[in-house]
Amino acid sequence: MSRYIGEIIETALSRRELMALTLFGSLAKASPKREETFKGIKPNSEDKITLPEGFTHRVLISWGDALDKGPKLNHNSIRKNGPTMQDIERQASCFGYNCDYVGFLSFGGRSILFVNHEYCNPELMFPEFSNRRPTREETLFMMQAHGASVVEIKPSQGSWQVLEGSELNRRITVTTPCIIEGPAKGHRFMKTSYDQGGVRVLGTVNNCAGGKTPWGTVLTCEENFHFYFSGREERIKDQLIARLHDRYGVPSPLSLQTGFGLYEDRFNVEKEPNEAFRFGWVVEIDPFDPSFTPIKRTALGRFKHEAAFSVVAKDGRVVVYMGDDERFEYVYKFVSKNAFKEGDKSHNLGLLDEGSLYVAKFNDDLSGEWVLIASCERTSQGYKISPNEALPEMFKKEPELCFIATRLAADALNATQMDRPEDVEYNPHTKSVWIALTFNERRTKSLSNAANPRPFNTMGHIIELKEEGSNPTSTRFSWHIPLFCGEVGSKNPSRRLLIYGKEPKSYTPPISAPDNFAIDSKGRVWIATDGNPSTSRLSLNDGVYVLDPFSRELKMFLSGVPGCEICGPEFSSDFKTFFCAIQHPGESGSIVPLSLWPREAGIEVPRPSVIAVWHKSGLKIG
Ligand code: FEO
Ligand code: CA
Ligand code: CA
Ligand code: CA
Repeated sequence: MSRYIGEIIETALSRRELMALTLFGSLAKASPKREETFKGIKPNSEDKITLPEGFTHRVLISWGDALDKGPKLNHNSIRKNGPTMQDIERQASCFGYNCDYVGFLSFGGRSILFVNHEYCNPELMFPEFSNRRPTREETLFMMQAHGASVVEIKPSQGSWQVLEGSELNRRITVTTPCIIEGPAKGHRFMKTSYDQGGVRVLGTVNNCAGGKTPWGTVLTCEENFHFYFSGREERIKDQLIARLHDRYGVPSPLSLQTGFGLYEDRFNVEKEPNEAFRFGWVVEIDPFDPSFTPIKRTALGRFKHEAAFSVVAKDGRVVVYMGDDERFEYVYKFVSKNAFKEGDKSHNLGLLDEGSLYVAKFNDDLSGEWVLIASCERTSQGYKISPNEALPEMFKKEPELCFIATRLAADALNATQMDRPEDVEYNPHTKSVWIALTFNERRTKSLSNAANPRPFNTMGHIIELKEEGSNPTSTRFSWHIPLFCGEVGSKNPSRRLLIYGKEPKSYTPPISAPDNFAIDSKGRVWIATDGNPSTSRLSLNDGVYVLDPFSRELKMFLSGVPGCEICGPEFSSDFKTFFCAIQHPGESGSIVPLSLWPREAGIEVPRPSVIAVWHKSGLKIG
């Protein structure tokens, strides 16, 4: 590694340390003596879930378990012979594949988990899925295995169990009717041959992470929607449509793996050029109302949405923090026009349709600003949109494009291109926003900046952002990097683990690819990783780590199984249960799984599952 790079990092660090002493210094001073809740484990490659001493876990629900009272999926037959029409029908009522976001919600004495199903691994689900396209049945099956699940759970023996057949249980899939709300509703690009008003759409897809709102709904985020759109770009007649799609990677060669465009015209851009504009949104769902029609909230912008974290500001307005998870993409926030009203659900359900959408600019002097893309409000004629004056003519002529082609608006405003922004969460204990930048091996020396200082950033880092006046609606902020992921003592500055700018003195586990967060009752940041197994990173299983911003220690809490990533870190409201999703166990790209976890007797395939973790003596975990 060149001296120059080392210098950039070291300079950024010394300034960061200064910042820590000034703006972020209060945190260290406020640091109370914390009780040890667990002794950290070491990362490993074992084919089992590893936890600290005193903790145990249970698989709560796995791919193919029935949400109704019907039979579970016949996994072995699907793997051996491919899915039948009957299997497709069952999948629509069974837990989906590749569980990602997990949200724990309670209402009226009942508790549920809201779980996303991001994508499928056809090579692990179906027979001999190597260098071939999916059959029609396989594609229809995958359409039902995507989306989300609502699962009622009840306390059981120190933990939880799923209530099969609860009337709250629900599947949302690629064919579930959804409606479109907000400023993009009815725009010419939102219209298709099956929806000439541009107001309704079938399904939601590639639901990665998400968030909960203060009024008890869930936000599920459409991330890599481009994977599902096929066709030849040059056959799109409208040049503007082709240009906008290009910025989002639509159509995608990976669509051949999903087969959606082979069997449904709406997923073929040659036949239905606008359908892709109807994906890439944040979708709001009331999980306690099984008849609720999911709503795509277009005021939150269209990009590859990782997650959406809501916080109520001092004046009652709701701020939603969001990341666009792709290399060199942006961090966004939405600020509602109106204030949250406790207990007034119909009012609150309108909050995410009117407000201002901002994108983040991180300055090299550790300051930053939220640059307005556009504001929108409802009028008797629809939505009035006020775009940033600095935007090019295209956005002034058709201001809806600020929301439909958000990435292009952010480009024009010179926002800071980040190292793949994943989860962005507000921590009420540090009164700051935590941003996971998972990695970006394509960052070069000439493209590095203070907020993304590592060239060939394979390990990732975490930014802490402090809003001016600790107010989430502020348009100015300061920031620093509390965690550079990597390994202690690495000679390569792009791989060296640093906590608050320092190399830890005591044993600290290697960590890479931070993805999703959960903040515990002490303000500690629980980090689920997605990428440790890669040989360019650690060649170890992914896991859950805990960073204490007060003691500045990093420990490992959980190690997953080969091939999996850990998603959806979440606590029960009493912080006695930790939930997470073990996504794509066994995945390596090959048709031979790396793991058969959770190894349920008689089932010969690995199954993505949600687990519950608790302390054997019932102690609070977080
Ligand atoms: Fe679906 Fe950004 O991970
Ligand atoms: Ca993720
Ligand atoms: Ca999270
Ligand atoms: Ca990830």
